[in-house]
Amino acid sequence: MTTLVIGARGSVGRQVLDQLLALGEPVRASARTPETADLPAGVPVVAADLTRPQTLPAALDGVRKVFVYATAGMADFAVAARAAGVEHVVVLSSGSVLLPYAHGNAIAEEHRAMERVLAASGLRWTPIRPLVLANNALAWSYSIRTEGVARMLHPEAATAPIHERDVAAAAVAALTGRAESGVSDLLTGGELVSQRRQVELIGEAAGRPVRIEELTEARAQREFERFGSPAAAASIVQFIVAAARGGSPATGTARRILGRPPLPFARWTADHAATFA
Ligand SMILES: NC(=O)c1ccc[n+]([C@@H]2O[C@H](COP(=O)([O-])OP(=O)(O)OC[C@H]3O[C@@H](n4cnc5c(N)ncnc54)[C@H](OP(=O)(O)O)[C@@H]3O)[C@@H](O)[C@H]2O)c1
Repeated sequence: MTTLVIGARGSVGRQVLDQLLALGEPVRASARTPETADLPAGVPVVAADLTRPQTLPAALDGVRKVFVYATAGMADFAVAARAAGVEHVVVLSSGSVLLPYAHGNAIAEEHRAMERVLAASGLRWTPIRPLVLANNALAWSYSIRTEGVARMLHPEAATAPIHERDVAAAAVAALTGRAESGVSDLLTGGELVSQRRQVELIGEAAGRPVRIEELTEARAQREFERFGSPAAAASIVQFIVAAARGGSPATGTARRILGRPPLPFARWTADHAATFA
């Protein structure tokens, strides 16, 4: 029952791969450019790019389960997965699809569209729906390293960021049939942490004080456009404004699926301290 991890060098994908290996599951890893992928020795690595469907039949040959990111090319992937006899697809989607206020939000709609493709495919599929990845804090790493500053909209806005290891653990629970029902419920960390407190914890882990500069919505929009489209940037602004109004919850999903509390944000800062030092 080989499991293909598509995007095995992504933050969540790599954790999925490592956790499946630790369980002794037969795995295959893929990347768009496998020749540059630094993956564990002994793991078969293939090329797979959802936007280049010709890469998919060979990558999926003999595969029964797949972990995949919600990226463009999902329709071609679904066709190829059915043709290859794949029995279960676990997709990293987004908790924003479950938030009524995020209707029309570009990020939520993108993930909703990917979910619709899989729902219509006839494949057995399970979405994993984290709301806020702790890795979002990496966006502050450059200015913290070079200027000791983190610039943000609404420093008091609180979210419950989830460690990539816990997102992966939920995906692995789904892939291995260990998950209780509810694995697709809104997935968050266990504690609400304001952005200001997140930066304090980063500073403590990195051993340096960090100053916060508050941004206006217009300035935040421009900053986020450095990482994505204007529509995606506007979506992130909308999420932060909602969080500032108390609209970013902490749920019990991770604890229920994993049978333990989710990792605290301080664990994430300890794991990533070097990136901010
Ligand atoms: N940021 C948030 O708060 C948040 C909240 C909810 C959900 N999410 C979801 O989580 C994702 C980020 O997860 P992450 O941090 O693990 O991402 P990441 O480290 O940036 O990795 C993304 C992975 O996607 C793979 N990929 C991209 N396009 C592909 C394609 N056309 N075909 C095959 N593979 C492709 C990449 O493969 P290569 O290695 O080959 O480049 C890479 O491994 C977001 O994109 C979003 O869907 C994020």
